[in-house]
Amino acid sequence: MTPTDRLAERLGLALLHRFDPERAHGLSLLALRAGLAPRPGPVQSARLATKLAGLNLPNPVGLAAGYDKNATALGALVKSGFGFVEVGAATPLPQPGNPKPRLFRLSQDRAVINRFGFNNEGAEAIAARLAAHPRGAVPVGLNLGANKTSTDRAADFARVLAVCGAHVDFATVNVSSPNTEKLRDLQGAAALSALLAGVMDTRAGLSRRIPIFLKIAPDLNSDELAELAEVALAAGVDAIIATNTTLSREGLTSAHKGEAGGLSGAPLFEKSTRVLAQLSQLTEGRLPLIGVGGVGSADQAYAKIRAGASAVQLYSALVYGGLSLVGEIAHGLEALLARDGYDNITQAIGTNRGVWL
Ligand code: FNR
Repeated sequence: MTPTDRLAERLGLALLHRFDPERAHGLSLLALRAGLAPRPGPVQSARLATKLAGLNLPNPVGLAAGYDKNATALGALVKSGFGFVEVGAATPLPQPGNPKPRLFRLSQDRAVINRFGFNNEGAEAIAARLAAHPRGAVPVGLNLGANKTSTDRAADFARVLAVCGAHVDFATVNVSSPNTEKLRDLQGAAALSALLAGVMDTRAGLSRRIPIFLKIAPDLNSDELAELAEVALAAGVDAIIATNTTLSREGLTSAHKGEAGGLSGAPLFEKSTRVLAQLSQLTEGRLPLIGVGGVGSADQAYAKIRAGASAVQLYSALVYGGLSLVGEIAHGLEALLARDGYDNITQAIGTNRGVWL
């Protein structure tokens, strides 16, 4: 990125932050579609290239779910530097989500609170966009959700997979959003086993086998985590994404700290990394893990990898740092790995897990 590009990005971000957050979010997607952001392409190197649950990633820095819920800016996002991109959440039927306002910037805390509640255009519309996106070097996945008014929420995940599965490289079962009442109850062992069995059955019927990831909440205790890891292993899940947003509000100073919803960004880093390290210990190499929560620098991405992640994802830091952060983190990771004498990212996974346990 040239100094002029960086300046343009900084001005663009300052302008966006003058709008209400949801409007700014929509405008940022518009700007991407209009080609207003640089498109350097995925960062690639022998050190960063890795295989995750059978997917070839040019680098381990991914976009977390929730930014491009309707897959409207995929063409730009896969060229923004990411090694993989997750869109959604998609639910079987379109739904408007919760009343506005439902997205809040906590600038002082470098954080975000959202209570969107799976607003999206529905699986059919999203499948059509995914189908129109040419498959490329950057794997694209879909976050699966459930409709608020569904009579069988557990079955919704498989329904979305059935409609969209042929057009994506991976899919994520998201039972960890705090913004759909009782959704997180599906993280319990019996409910989750049944739900995952349905998803796996649906996957078996797809024309090509795609990996299924499970995304979990950071607000689980050790017993719940242990149970969840067992269920995931037994169900044949291909990776766990740790974590979604938190209900905790520790240590915040911004004006909007009292808003209901899920908190993400800097204050989530430690909590989500501790959960990641615990999961790494519980699964001991039997399942790859994707570390998400508060990643805003190469050091933090590296810390997640050394806590046990095979790859990382981010979202909230982009609100404050812009998309140039993606390349910065990927290139920074390359330098940190070289400094520590690693030829490939896989050698660093879990090497510092102990400090988080
Ligand atoms: C999210 N996140 C999210 N996760 C998910 O699995 N499905 C979703 O639809 C959404 N939607 C969503 C919207 C908004 C506005 C935010 C800020 C977040 C959670 C996201 O993918 C990620 O797990 C957390 O935000 C933690 O990562 P960051 O943001 O701290 O990097």
